[in-house]
Formats: sequence, C-alpha cells, structure tokens
Amino acid sequence: MKETNSSTTTEPIGQNLIKVISNVCFSFFVFSVLIFTVIAITYQPPDPWLESSKSLITDFTKVENATFKTDTSVISTGEDLILAPADSPSAGFQITEVTIEKSEEKLAYSNSSLNCDEDLNVVNCSDPRVLIAVERFNLKTFKSRIVFLEYQPPVNGSKPNECDVAWKYRNKKERSWRKYRDYRRFTIGFGVNCSYEVTAAKGFRSGFNARRPRLPSGWNSTRTHLPRIPVNPSDSDINDTIPTVGSESAFRQGKYLVYSQGGDHCKGMNQFLWSFLCGLGEAQFLNRTFVMDLNICLAATYNPSNKDEDGKDFRFYFDFEHLKEVASIVEAREFIKDWRKWERTHRRRIPVRRVASYKITPMQLHKAKSTILYRRFDGPEPENYWYRVCEGEAAKYIERPWHALWKSKRLMNIVSEISGRMDWDFDAVHVVRGEKAENKELWPHLDSDTSPDNLVTKVQAMIQPWRNLYVATNEPFYNYFDKLRSYYKVHLLDDYKELWGNTSEWYNETKTLNDGKPVEFDGYMRVAVDTEVLYRAKTRVETFYNLTSDCKDGVNTC
Ligand SMILES: *[C@@H]1O[C@H](CO)[C@@H](O)[C@H](O)[C@H]1NC(C)=O
Ligand SMILES: *[C@@H]1O[C@H](CO)[C@@H](O)[C@H](O)[C@H]1NC(C)=O
Ligand SMILES: *[C@@H]1O[C@H](CO)[C@@H](O)[C@H](O)[C@H]1NC(C)=O
Ligand SMILES: *[C@@H]1O[C@H](CO)[C@@H](O)[C@H](O)[C@H]1NC(C)=O
Ligand SMILES: *[C@@H]1O[C@H](CO)[C@@H](O)[C@H](O)[C@H]1NC(C)=O
Ligand SMILES: *[C@@H]1O[C@H](CO)[C@@H](O)[C@H](O)[C@H]1NC(C)=O
Ligand SMILES: *[C@@H]1O[C@H](CO)[C@@H](O)[C@H](O)[C@H]1NC(C)=O
Ligand SMILES: *[C@@H]1O[C@H](CO)[C@@H](O)[C@H](O)[C@H]1NC(C)=O
Ligand SMILES: *[C@@H]1O[C@H](CO)[C@@H](O)[C@H](O)[C@H]1NC(C)=O
Ligand SMILES: *[C@@H]1O[C@H](CO)[C@@H](O)[C@H](O)[C@H]1NC(C)=O
Ligand SMILES: *[C@@H]1O[C@H](CO)[C@@H](O)[C@H](O)[C@H]1NC(C)=O
Repeated sequence: MKETNSSTTTEPIGQNLIKVISNVCFSFFVFSVLIFTVIAITYQPPDPWLESSKSLITDFTKVENATFKTDTSVISTGEDLILAPADSPSAGFQITEVTIEKSEEKLAYSNSSLNCDEDLNVVNCSDPRVLIAVERFNLKTFKSRIVFLEYQPPVNGSKPNECDVAWKYRNKKERSWRKYRDYRRFTIGFGVNCSYEVTAAKGFRSGFNARRPRLPSGWNSTRTHLPRIPVNPSDSDINDTIPTVGSESAFRQGKYLVYSQGGDHCKGMNQFLWSFLCGLGEAQFLNRTFVMDLNICLAATYNPSNKDEDGKDFRFYFDFEHLKEVASIVEAREFIKDWRKWERTHRRRIPVRRVASYKITPMQLHKAKSTILYRRFDGPEPENYWYRVCEGEAAKYIERPWHALWKSKRLMNIVSEISGRMDWDFDAVHVVRGEKAENKELWPHLDSDTSPDNLVTKVQAMIQPWRNLYVATNEPFYNYFDKLRSYYKVHLLDDYKELWGNTSEWYNETKTLNDGKPVEFDGYMRVAVDTEVLYRAKTRVETFYNLTSDCKDGVNTC
C-alpha cells in the first residue's frame, strides 16, 4: 500500500531550530519570542526589528494563559525567513548583458542590419532589435532592483514610434522566487549607425497593448501576436484551486491527520499560524496528509468592524498554491465528502483513530496504522489550543514548516504595483503609533518623537530631500504626515486605494474566491502590504532606535 509521503528532512538548520525551540520552550508561549529568536539565531536576517527578541519575555504570562502579544505593526512569514536566494536554476532564464549579446550575435548572422536611408523614422516593433534595445534600457535602469526573466515580443504602441513590451521579473528584495509582470510603453528612436534606442519610457504597467490575456496554461513566450483590448489582466499564474484527493482508491491509500476546531479559532492571527504550523508539522512528522480548513476567523483587532469575523478564506492572506506544492494537504470539506462517499460505496467504515487530548504525543502516534487520525480539541481553554501538541518533548521532533507559509500572491501583486509605481526607487519610514503612542507608561517618548514636527526633523537627518518616501504606519489619520510633504514625495498605503477598490484586479479575484461576495481589505492585509513595501525600500528608518529611544517592548526592555 502506498503512503502519501511528505518529507521530514533533518538538516543542520533543522537540528538547530529544534534545539532553539526546545531551549525556549520552558518559557514558550509567545509566538513572537520563538519566531523572533529562531530567526535571529538561525537565519540572521537583515531586519533590525527582529533583533529585540529577548525583551519580549517580560510580556509573558503563565503557560496556561499564554497571550500572543506580538508586534502587530509588522507581519513576517516564511518568505521573509529565507536566506537571500542564490541564482537558483529554478528561477528561470535571466536576461543579462550576456544573453542580450548572444541574441545580438544571432541577428548579425541573419544579415538584416538596418539600412539608414530606407528605414529611418520607421519603427518596426516586431523587429527583434527593438526588443534588444528595450532589454538594454531596462537592464541599465533597474539592474540593481529587478531581475528580468522573460520578455514578450513587443507590440505597437499608440503612436508609430512607440512599442509596448511586457515581461516578467522578480524583485531582488523579495526572497521567494515568485514572478511578477510589468508592461510599459517605450518611445523608440535611432542612435548612431541607425541602431534602435529607447528615448523615453512610461511608468509601471503603462504598455496597455502588451497586457496579456488570461491564458489557461500560463505564459507562452513564443506567442507573437497578443490580442489587443479587451483583455483581462488577471494574474492567471495563481492557481489556488482546492485540490481533491481524486479517485476512491487514491483516497483509501492516503493517510490523514485531522484537527478538529480548537480554542485557537478567532484568536489572533499569530496564534493561528503558530497552531496551524504545529498541525502541519505533526502531519509531516507522521508522513500524513494534513486535512486543513481554509476557513479563518479574523480577530477583532484587524477588522474595521472591531469584531471577530468568521468565514475569511486562508487564501486571502496566504499563498495556498505554494502551500499545496510544498506540503501534503487536503481541504477539509472535500475530504469529508470523499470520506462519506467511500463509506457509502464500500459499505464499510474507514479505520479512524480518535485522539482525545494533546497529551497523547506525536511520538506515540508514530506507529498508528489507521487511515485517519482525528485529533479532538474539546477541552476548556487553554487545553484546546492546537499548538499544545507541539509543546514539551514533542518540540524536539516537530519542526514547524515555516517555509510553507508565504504571503498571498494577490497581496504581493499590490506590493509590487506600489513599489513599481515608485520605480523601486524609494526610501521608507516606519511610524508606529496607535496604542503604543497612547501608553505613556511603557513608551514615554514615542508620541512626541513621532509628532509631525519631530518626524520632519528626524527624517531629514537620515533621508535626502525630495526622495520618494513611503510611510508605513498604523496611524489612521491620513493628513498626519502632511508636514513631510514640504520635503519629500510622501506615499501612504491609502494613496493606492484603487489597487483594492471595486475596479481592481484584487477585488475581482478575491470576490471569485468568496463565492461572488466582495472581500474587505482588512487590517491584516494592510499590515502585510505595508510591511512588504517597507522591506523593499532603499533606506529604511525604523520607529524604535531611529526615531525614538523608547524600547520596542516598553520601558527597560532594551
Ligand atoms: C488563567 O486565567 C484564568 C481566567 O482568566 C484564571 O482563573 C487562572 O487562574 C489563570 N491561570 C494561571 C495559571 O494564571
Ligand atoms: C548580407 O548582406 C550583404 C549586403 O547587403 C550581401 O552582400 C550578402 O550577400 C548578405 N549575406 C547573406 C548571407 O544574406
Ligand atoms: C518588421 O520586422 C519583422 C521581423 O523582422 C518582419 O517580419 C516584418 O516584415 C517587418 N515589418 C515591416 C512593416 O517592415
Ligand atoms: C504596427 O504598426 C505598423 C506601422 O506603424 C503597421 O505597419 C503594422 O501593421 C502594425 N502592426 C499591428 C500588429 O498592428
Ligand atoms: C558604428 O559603426 C562603426 C563602424 O561599423 C563602429 O566602429 C561603431 O562602433 C558603431 N557604433 C556603435 C555605437 O555601434
Ligand atoms: C506556445 O505556442 C506555440 C504556437 O502557438 C506552440 O507551438 C507551443 O507549443 C506553445 N508552447 C507552450 C509551452 O505552450
Ligand atoms: C491547478 O492546480 C491543480 C493541482 O493543485 C491542477 O490539478 C490544475 O490542473 C491546475 N490548474 C491550472 C489551470 O493549472
Ligand atoms: C516517514 O517517512 C520517512 C522516510 O520516508 C521514514 O524515515 C519515517 O520513519 C516515516 N515516518 C512514519 C511515521 O511513518
Ligand atoms: C464602486 O464603489 C463606488 C464608491 O464606493 C460606487 O460608487 C460604485 O458604484 C462601485 N462600483 C461597483 C461596480 O460596484
Ligand atoms: C472586474 O470584473 C468586472 C466584471 O466582471 C469587469 O468589468 C472588470 O473589467 C474587472 N476588472 C478587472 C481589473 O479585472
Ligand atoms: C537606524 O538605527 C540603526 C540602529 O541604531 C542604524 O543601524 C541604522 O543605520 C539607522 N537607520 C538610519 C536610516 O539611519
């Protein structure tokens, strides 16, 4: 009988991680300490706010009443933990000076050099040399920020000397290898020897004629003629359909781990992640397929309504496609359907082992043969938290698969668009206010250090005048940063409202996921996008230690 395999690798990093976790585990609880410590020790990331981990210990309460008080002004997921990728072969073909020269050589052999007299002033967008000119131009303009992956053949722009070109790229500051797309309009002129030259280029996604249609099988770079408008610019690269087990025999051959809904439901997102990754980690340890419920209850803190909201979809926030690829999972409703169907057709029961308490450890279940392991979380809080399965001794065996959890590509498309509109050439300041600024006991200077006048003085000492300045903040008052506008081109998340407004791609796509009901752009999404734009800035000014000497976690914690 075949088992559904998922890898449980033990690399040095893994060992390290287990040690780190087990050491901290006596004082476990707070998610942030663990992640933050693990990140700091194992991954040594360049992010300054991840360093003040130990100080958080002061926030802790007793084990049973673990509170997940973490920094809600920043959201880190798996892709932020990856070491900066080397030039991985899986990343696809990169356009570099070398590849451009090669295609130029090829052209030279085909003996079709421009004739200065005849061709003057006629730009033929289909001429491969136009593409070469554009590739050179892009490389020169964006080389330090962007890796160019694939180009589409140029198409006509709106004027005779304009060409629209589309390509895929990745951002050097993003550590996952996800690709994004851009299409711009270029004005082509002639240089010495009548060679093509880009004389002007419009901004991010300005080359409307090169927008690609929704192609069911993805990008076909050999296509030469793209239909013009109307095209649907949706990101057809995202495939987060719900996988099904398939045939009945395949269902029976699998081995599954089910977690019933526990006390984590409607707790903060950090607790959800900490718990979810515990379940997924246990499934990997047991070589089982994890049965996951895509339904998420978003805690009140992130909701404009200020109430817990059930019925959110995992895919609004996280990259389900990536999760499907790297972990063995099946969606709960599909699973139950298949389970019932099998029992009906075969008139017998599938072996299920019910596990009543988290006190039965993953190690004790290692030899379990039943097709389905069903963990119940019925007890009172905090007995019914999923993450308790991974406590104590189990922490040595179970590794939370952080790498499986990335932010939603749809949110990242928004991030990419915001930074693209600033041509990836911007600085950022992170201004934490909100509750912390109000709490004078723990953060005595924060409020005044982030006052409009002080911001101007302090930011000026660190950032050149008239740069693009992105302000990532939890300050709700839009005009709070107006004083900075006399010195910088200020950008705030709300300046890009149309990216999630009712005419946006994001709106359309999330609506489709949500059975046709519009999805609200909630607080968690805002922070996720704000964080990622911040990560892409050239110079980053942090609230703590750059703007104020108050400690990140309250007095005497640093
Ligand atoms: C946890 O909280 C409950 C109620 O909030 C309280 O009764 C209990 O004593 C607390 N437990 C510990 C160990 O602090
Ligand atoms: C290349 O062009 C030159 C001049 O136009 C011509 O004499 C020569 O035959 C061409 N070579 C080939 C291989 O077409
Ligand atoms: C433009 O260039 C392509 C490829 O070199 C060629 O096939 C086509 O005939 C040219 N069109 C015009 C109008 O010159
Ligand atoms: C592009 O423009 C050229 C001349 O400006 C024209 O000859 C050609 O037919 C156009 N191509 C398409 C695909 O419209
Ligand atoms: C122009 O052509 C001349 C002679 O073929 C060559 O030496 C020169 O490098 C060319 N200039 C450019 C910018 O390609
Ligand atoms: C791309 O399109 C061309 C022609 O339409 C076809 O021959 C080729 O197989 C396609 N490639 C892929 C990867 O779909
Ligand atoms: C999407 O992924 C599923 C597997 O998860 C696959 O069966 C399906 O064919 C994919 N759809 C497209 C359009 O690539
Ligand atoms: C899971 O698979 C790995 C290798 O395939 C094996 O070493 C391990 O013992 C298996 N674990 C269980 C619980 O079957
Ligand atoms: C989009 O929102 C605006 C303002 O909220 C509203 O006036 C408009 O009717 C909406 N359009 C659609 C298609 O829902
Ligand atoms: C969103 O969907 C509506 C209706 O289906 C369509 O008219 C609109 O063009 C779409 N917008 C985008 C950006 O895809
Ligand atoms: C912010 O503070 C850190 C730590 O003191 C320092 O390394 C960094 O250079 C400062 N950032 C700026 C933009 O000055």
